[in-house]
Amino acid sequence: MAEQNLPDTPQDQNLPDAPKDQNLVEASQDQNQPDIAQDQILPDVPQDQNQPDIVQDQNLPDVSQDEEKTLESPISEVHSEAEKKGKYLRFSIPQRIEHIIFLVSFSILGFTGLSQKFADSSLGLAILNGLGGIERTRLIHHFSAAVMMVISIYHVNEVLYKVYVERTPWSMLPFIQDFQHVIQDILYNLGFRKRRAYYGRYSYAEKAEYLALVWGTVIMGLTGFVMWNPITTARLLPGQIIPAAKAAHGAEAILAVLAIILWHFYHVHLKHFNKSMFIGTMTKEEMEHEHPAELAELEAEVTREPIAPSLIRKRQRVFFPFAGVLTIVLGFGVIRFLTVEKTAITTIPQGETAAVYVPVTPTPRPTSAPTPTPNPNQPIGEDTWDGNFQALFRNRCDTCHGATKVGGLSLETYQSTLQGGNSGPAIIPGDPDNSILVQMQSTGKHPGQLTLDELDRVINWIASGAPEK
Ligand code: HEC
Repeated sequence: MAEQNLPDTPQDQNLPDAPKDQNLVEASQDQNQPDIAQDQILPDVPQDQNQPDIVQDQNLPDVSQDEEKTLESPISEVHSEAEKKGKYLRFSIPQRIEHIIFLVSFSILGFTGLSQKFADSSLGLAILNGLGGIERTRLIHHFSAAVMMVISIYHVNEVLYKVYVERTPWSMLPFIQDFQHVIQDILYNLGFRKRRAYYGRYSYAEKAEYLALVWGTVIMGLTGFVMWNPITTARLLPGQIIPAAKAAHGAEAILAVLAIILWHFYHVHLKHFNKSMFIGTMTKEEMEHEHPAELAELEAEVTREPIAPSLIRKRQRVFFPFAGVLTIVLGFGVIRFLTVEKTAITTIPQGETAAVYVPVTPTPRPTSAPTPTPNPNQPIGEDTWDGNFQALFRNRCDTCHGATKVGGLSLETYQSTLQGGNSGPAIIPGDPDNSILVQMQSTGKHPGQLTLDELDRVINWIASGAPEK
């Protein structure tokens, strides 16, 4: 299967190298007279590639000024006028939709992610608050991540389909030629060469960006998983992975966003606004500029002969079940990713976070108000606020429900206890069942917990009307 997936053709088809191109030109010359300028460009390529020195270029002055020449030549003028109206399809509608989904989810991820990373800057904080708080931001971030995972699974299937069923060459992989192009473009930019490199279907700039995107998505997915599911991760791998993943996730995010802003925006929007990813097509002029080698192949009509429908169907019968299984496996992986654990790290509401740092509460000194040891024989009458509970609460609850008022609740005075906190009165005299204090303490999980005996006394006290004196 794996070997079948790899077509044997890509190198030949992909590399418009010297002998190949020359063959193509000869072939097309026989059939229909193509324009001269175009032909002149082709033989130029191998020479330039082999000896990218200045003397070469000077020897062939017309050749290097291909574009102007194309327009000047009377024959090619007719030819290109006709072609110029025609558009060259670059991206199908599904590919364009895919790109838009990716673009949107990437942008949202970058925006919501970096604002979390830089939450201590005023801009980051303003964005977080604008989005409705950290929890909401995190939710949006997670949702976009899920969208990106789904679209990535689609993309994997798409690539496999093209390569296996349609036998499209691996035109996104870098070849030696791409490195030559880099050197040629550097020479061109330094003024040692008269024309830019002769790009094929994808230039090295596009390939580099695509591969960076694939790599980035893998890294972000893996480190994202670790941060999203730290407990599961720690079960399988050493715990240090978790902060490491966080660092990598943040750094790669900056890298990715910068790559988009600098590399992508420059190559696609600034240098020349390339709309083909949105409208799907390129004009001949654009093709001449951006993908001359591909254009030459297209013009010579030697790209690829169509595959017989029966063969397509045969391959589809292999491909679709495989893709189905693959999608189910990956889809299951994504669902696990999203749901395997409910991460323990949820944010504590504002007020409480503040409370931890705000005025240092004096450590309660047991000597100042010793809690009377619960005495079963003690008459109920002594169980009043003044007689017992003020001291009890001061000792057990004052750290959080004293001056700092965690949850809005102060248990310092009888009045403040009756008044209660964010959820309303802490105690309702005569009704222990509905008293929030009793409810909270009955769960047994409160950060400051009364013993069962103490709680019993509190309940009895409330039941008897919660007398103050
Ligand atoms: C270590 C800190 C801490 C201590 C000590 C503590 N609490 Fe709390 N308490 C909290 C926090 C945090 C909340 C808010 C919980 C929430 O809203 O989910 C809370 C909320 C409450 C509330 C509800 C307030 C409201 O209106 O929402 C009551 C009642 C309460 N505590 C009673 C007590 C009692 C009684 C004690 C002592 C026995 C006590 N707490 C000790 C941290 C503490």
